[in-house]
Amino acid sequence: MREQKYEVIYIKKITNKIKQNYYKKLIENKYDFIVLKTPKNMWCLTKECTLVQINNFEEFIKNMQKYTYFTTKITQNEQNLDNLDIFFSLIHKYQKQLSKRYFNFLFGSIAVKSGNGFITTIRGKKDLNDYTYVSNVDFKNKEIEVLNKKATLNAPLLAHLFDNNNVFAIVHLHELYKHFPTYDYHPAGTLEDSIRPNMFSFNIKSHGTYLLLDKDLKIITHKNIDTNQKYPYYKDYEHLYKRFFKRDSKELVDLVDINKDDKVIDICGGNGRLTNVLLEKTSNVTYLDQEKDMINKNTIQGATIINQPLQEFVKKTKEKYDFGFCQQAINYWLNTIDVKTFANIFKPGGKFIFNTFNKKPNKKNFVKEYTIDNINYTEISYMKNKNTIQHIQICEDSMPHFTQFDYISPNRYKKLLGKYFEIEIINKNNTSIYICTRR
Ligand SMILES: C[S@@+](CC[C@H](N)C(=O)[O-])C[C@H]1O[C@@H](n2cnc3c(N)ncnc32)[C@H](O)[C@@H]1O
Repeated sequence: MREQKYEVIYIKKITNKIKQNYYKKLIENKYDFIVLKTPKNMWCLTKECTLVQINNFEEFIKNMQKYTYFTTKITQNEQNLDNLDIFFSLIHKYQKQLSKRYFNFLFGSIAVKSGNGFITTIRGKKDLNDYTYVSNVDFKNKEIEVLNKKATLNAPLLAHLFDNNNVFAIVHLHELYKHFPTYDYHPAGTLEDSIRPNMFSFNIKSHGTYLLLDKDLKIITHKNIDTNQKYPYYKDYEHLYKRFFKRDSKELVDLVDINKDDKVIDICGGNGRLTNVLLEKTSNVTYLDQEKDMINKNTIQGATIINQPLQEFVKKTKEKYDFGFCQQAINYWLNTIDVKTFANIFKPGGKFIFNTFNKKPNKKNFVKEYTIDNINYTEISYMKNKNTIQHIQICEDSMPHFTQFDYISPNRYKKLLGKYFEIEIINKNNTSIYICTRR
């Protein structure tokens, strides 16, 4: 817990001039922040001269006290200035955006890898020619090691972004880039601000953008990363997609009465959680998934395992099922399967049950940030084109997973499946469950 030094000020409305004046006051009084209250809204003016909207004052103050801050240590470590010319070429390139002054200070920062550390702009800079060398950021002791002047407040975040070997330079500007994912605001120089996803460029709400540049100084964005990856090893999948396991497989299975002799299939079974529930009902269970790494043979003992894309399986099989389930996976295959052939794997009166999301994601990046068991997660989804959704699943302690699947509208489900099945739909918030009975 760190006591915060701040003042609450009542104003009529926020203008640029007011922001400038109170920023001066913040610096002169060495405040951590200033709260500006207008008749309608409440804002926090931060040390980086950012205005962050406050919804609940008590909660906000409590959160501000919880942040973990880094301190700076001046060391005698060796400095490597090999890439100083690149540093200055970037200063030159982004000079216009970096030259906006507030109470004499310049905002934004540049950093370039050099040796084992990085060259970067200094804290509270009044001149773009000033630089310092960060030789190390110790995340355990929350300490930034510099060789001469204190580095820009966000040095720990820069160090974390450089952990990605593809990142050679970073440009931080106090403006938002339209097509980047936008993450929640945390004060610069805190641990919470320093553990952002580091694969591609991003924005921080109300604050600004972080351009991650590769060796050729090209901006790395999520749009140029291959998002059609295979599914990972099931243990990594279970960790990475923990949130999705809150939806119990029983929710689907309990919708129908399965007898002990019924023949059932779990389509796109993943780690086998739904197969497990089915095995409690009948011993005649088939599990199908195209990804070998997803199959956990220990948990689905007793089931027939088919490691094949569904599209191929339905073409060859002679099996007829009483029930088929597909949990959180139909958007991968319905548009690319011959639906008649698929429908033929069911007995007349047999039921195919699946769940799916029912809202088309926004074209823009939708970002969801949350913590489960003290581990930070970030999800980014967006429409790649008219009907393709890309999804990036990120967890702070493991490899991210990129995947893409189709958006299928309720009308399209009805059109594709309605010819062969009677369809009943149960809507629950953003999810719809379809119970399809073979005609
Ligand atoms: C989001 S996971 C869902 C897994 C599981 N049903 C669950 O709810 O936990 C999607 C699964 O579908 C599998 N999959 C995707 N397309 C497939 C296809 N055409 N045929 C078979 N499996 C497929 C993937 O390998 C992955 O295991």
